[in-house]
Amino acid sequence: MKLYIINGPNLNMLGIREPAHYGSCRYEDMVEGICAHCKELGVEVCFYQSNHEGDLVDKIQEAYFEGADGIVINPGAYTHTSIALLDAVKSVSLPTVEVHISKVEEREDFRQVSYIRAACVKTITGHGIKGYSEAVDYLVELLGKDK
Ligand code: DQA
Repeated sequence: MKLYIINGPNLNMLGIREPAHYGSCRYEDMVEGICAHCKELGVEVCFYQSNHEGDLVDKIQEAYFEGADGIVINPGAYTHTSIALLDAVKSVSLPTVEVHISKVEEREDFRQVSYIRAACVKTITGHGIKGYSEAVDYLVELLGKDK
C-alpha cells in the first residue's frame, strides 16, 4: 500500500509557528514519527510540503499517476480558499483524509469553510500531529491490510 501525505503552506514551520495552536514538534520530527508509524504498518509513504497551491495540485495528480492508494492532506490555509485543490482530489478519485492539527471548528469564522472536505472520506481536526497517524490508520483499514 502506498500513501501520499501532503502538507500545504506554513506547515514546514511546525514547532516554530504558533505553538499554542500547532504544538512544539518540528516538521522534520513529525515526518520522522509518521514514517516510523507507516514502516510498522508496512505502508510505503511519500511526504510532500509546499507553500504553493499549484504545486499541491501537481502532487495530488502525481499520487494518481504513481499508483498511490490514498492521500492524507493538510491543505493549511488553502483549506479555506482553494477550489483547485477540491477539483484535484475529485479528479484523482483516491480516498483522501483531510487533517488539521488545530481544532479549526473552534477558531475564526474564516476557518469554518473547507472546500476540500466535500471530496474527502474523513476529516480529523484538533488531534495535533497524531491526527496524521490516525488518518493513515483509517486509510489502512479502509483499503484493507493485505494490499
Ligand atoms: C491548519 C488550520 C488552518 O486554518 C491553518 O491555515 C493552517 C493549519 C491546521 O492544521 O490546523 O495552516 O490546517
